[in-house]
Amino acid sequence: MKRHILITGGAGFIGSHVVRHFVRKYAGYEVVNLDLLTYAGNLENLHDVQQAPNYHFVRGDICDMCLVRTLFREHNIDGVIHLAAESHVDRSIRDPFLFVRTNVLGTLTLLQAAREAWGDSSEVERRFHHVSTDEVYGALQFGEEAFSETTSYNPHSPYSASKAGADHFVRAYHTTYGLPVVITHCSNNYGPYQFPEKLIPLCIRNICANKLLPIYGKGENVRDWLHVKDHAEAIDVVFHHGRNGESYNIGGSNERRNIDVVKLLIRIVDEELGRAPGSSEHLINHIEDRAGHDLRYAINAGKLHSELGWTPKHDFEKGLSDTVRWYLGHKEWLAAVVNGSYERYYAEMYDGQ
Ligand code: NAD
Ligand code: DAU
Repeated sequence: MKRHILITGGAGFIGSHVVRHFVRKYAGYEVVNLDLLTYAGNLENLHDVQQAPNYHFVRGDICDMCLVRTLFREHNIDGVIHLAAESHVDRSIRDPFLFVRTNVLGTLTLLQAAREAWGDSSEVERRFHHVSTDEVYGALQFGEEAFSETTSYNPHSPYSASKAGADHFVRAYHTTYGLPVVITHCSNNYGPYQFPEKLIPLCIRNICANKLLPIYGKGENVRDWLHVKDHAEAIDVVFHHGRNGESYNIGGSNERRNIDVVKLLIRIVDEELGRAPGSSEHLINHIEDRAGHDLRYAINAGKLHSELGWTPKHDFEKGLSDTVRWYLGHKEWLAAVVNGSYERYYAEMYDGQ
């Protein structure tokens, strides 16, 4: 069946992998990528698919109702995979209003446009897939059970609060107007094309440049890491086969302390650069903790596995080594995304600590 899918935020980290996955795997689908190209979006992330006949890029804002309505009409959109967001917790602490605008109002704009375009007809297959995060569940203590889909919402940062607000609107549009929705909650992603403000690419870049590695607090916080391509596959499965109105957790069953991830990165980068093993460990710099820093995330993805058969394919250590090699081989990409505004952000966040 030919589908016409609107992917939002497709020029960002995860979105670019989702766009590439859909454009290549489903040649018969039309994929429309709506992205504002904020500091986090870069068309270089999609250089290898931009000429594909089933792919269209539109630069624009998900909060622009007029534009979004037009896209639904002109492209006969029957599926949405919504990834566009402000995604960085540290930036949300500095500018919470921007996060509410993009993440809550932007999501509401897309929901309303979908509702208007799709009416209440159920004759045609339609789907609004909202890409949420595990952070809406809050934080776990050590020894507590992993998040499941029935874990209560308890967001702590302005970022996670804005994502939680968006999730509530998605459910409300399903319950109130019958919009066919699914929500996914994924854990921390790693892989190529991640903007170097997030822990893993930031550390790879700094180790290479012999710059300090800013580790919040003792580095004992735990994240559950998943390769971005496993996330893209999971989105494909849920978009096509998830049950209407349901949510699905996506995770790697791969909990690691930050300090252990950083030491592993040091080992890999030192080896790749021919440095003596561990010679970059002196770069580790414990700095003031992130405000409201969530201690631990862990995902129970049992529902996605048992209902839809998804399991992650990438081994973490191999995936991380490949990721390091990717960054080392893409210095031009790094130089292109790291512009003056990022350098200013970095200096304000970390220099002097
Ligand atoms: P990202 O910051 O790399 O990319 C976000 C993209 O959204 C960028 O291309 C940006 O230009 C675009 N965008 C921002 N505001 C926009 C607007 N108003 N209109 C149109 N486009 C806009 O984010 P990411 O890490 O790829 O995350 C993508 C989604 O996945 C987000 O919704 C995030 O909450 C969710 N998520 C991320 C992770 C993770 O580990 N990165 C994990 C779970 C869920
Ligand atoms: O869990 C999913 C979430 O993962 C996504 O919803 C978010 O969009 C994504 O940004 C990510 O959030 P985190 O805050 O977990 O990711 P980040 O890479 O910013 O930080 C990972 C851990 O590393 C976290 O415990 C904070 C710590 N950290 C991060 C940075 C940037 C440091 O110690 N130093 C740093 O400089």
